[in-house]
Amino acid sequence: MSSPSSLPSPNQKIAPLTAKTNAQGHLEIGGCDVPALVTQYGSPLYIIDEVTLREACRQYRGAFLQHYPAESLVIFASKAWNMLAIDAIVHHEGLGIDVVSAGELYTAIRAGADSQNIYFHGNNKSLQDLEMALDYGVTIVADNWQDLNTLAQLAEDKEVHPRVMIRITPGIECHTHEYIRTGHLDSKFGFDPQDVPAVFEFLSKTPFIKAIGIHAHIGSQIFELTPHQDIGPVLVEWFAKGLAFGLEFSELNVGGGLGICYTEQDDPPSIDDWVQTVCDGVVEACREARVSLPKIIAEPGRSLVGSCGVTAYTVGATKVVPEVRTYISVDGGMSDNPRPITYQAHYTAVVANKMNHPDQVMVTVAGKHCESGDILLKDVALAPTEPGDILAVYGTGAYNYAMASNYNRIARPAAVLVKNGASQLVLQRESLEDLVRNDRLPLSLTHAGV
Ligand code: LLP
Repeated sequence: MSSPSSLPSPNQKIAPLTAKTNAQGHLEIGGCDVPALVTQYGSPLYIIDEVTLREACRQYRGAFLQHYPAESLVIFASKAWNMLAIDAIVHHEGLGIDVVSAGELYTAIRAGADSQNIYFHGNNKSLQDLEMALDYGVTIVADNWQDLNTLAQLAEDKEVHPRVMIRITPGIECHTHEYIRTGHLDSKFGFDPQDVPAVFEFLSKTPFIKAIGIHAHIGSQIFELTPHQDIGPVLVEWFAKGLAFGLEFSELNVGGGLGICYTEQDDPPSIDDWVQTVCDGVVEACREARVSLPKIIAEPGRSLVGSCGVTAYTVGATKVVPEVRTYISVDGGMSDNPRPITYQAHYTAVVANKMNHPDQVMVTVAGKHCESGDILLKDVALAPTEPGDILAVYGTGAYNYAMASNYNRIARPAAVLVKNGASQLVLQRESLEDLVRNDRLPLSLTHAGV
């Protein structure tokens, strides 16, 4: 949030890299005037800044090349924003893709991703998920015995040798929202450390499965470096034990989790610092355990796509509760961004058609859903608004469209990719017809049937 006295030009810490205020006093992203994008594509609108997305991919790859003296692969945790255009861009930037469902896998394949660099996660993979993973030849991250037993059977039946990583609950605590912590021992994800020796024993006797390494992920939107420093020694210890069982391990996957700036108060480490910390931890642990450096894999989601996304809304009704609060309502809310209501997440917004107006008024931005908790931003300073103004919320690239719903039968927004003054539609706005597309009205419920 900008302080009430400052002129709210785009905040470089939070806004996409190409954001600026143009000659009309409007927010511009990727060389495109944001209010004009809304006129052209409708409201609300997800806007993706291609430069910011590609830059994040390059920073990750560059940092691993600089800080890790052996092979590395960055894979995009596509749960953060799985869509053809995004998967295609990260693939073109040389990243692999992490998928957690048949739908995410299908999208990645349709986007042209290389199946050799796709990793399939999940704590309850269906038979269909696993068959599809084997058919496309992607790497499977086994989460539990059910995965391993089903895979062993399927691999034998299909006479294939799937590449499999073992996900372990690392027992590392971190400070983030309870719902997005995964590394603590009381977690639904991964094998409990107690089970791992039996898993290695099983793998050493199951020739159809090609066990290639170890995986762990500790949580999301993490600002501390220490948990990521600690993950190296934990993973390397298990890696070395696997080698001692005769397994031909060659890969170590450290997960994702780096946080991003949603507000001025947020202070995450840089991508470079995060990568260096992870790499130093792994290199040091390998030296101590006397194992040669494995291929290192990291799977960030939020820190790749979070900051490239902006959601533009149109301001509608205002309600003043005297001496309490002023609500301004926008034409979207919890159905296009469920993070505030789910995790009490904070965001930063600007009035995109009044960028040169000072942030003079304290308001609470409400969504349009029939739910009191549908509040996008609470008590923030903005330029004075009137109906028809365009509100731009920064940092909505991760886990917004990915978790969007049709609550209240509200159609999901369109998305446009912007770069060098040009915009391209990458997600069509849902129509009213789309909303009833999968409904079926039995004859007995129609007039004719009455
Ligand atoms: N790898 C695994 C196994 C994961 O479960 C996740 C995220 C990631 C990588 C990527 O983590 P990231 O780099 O994005 O932090 N919906 C929540 C976030 C859930 C994260 C789920 N797993 C939110 O909106 O904050």
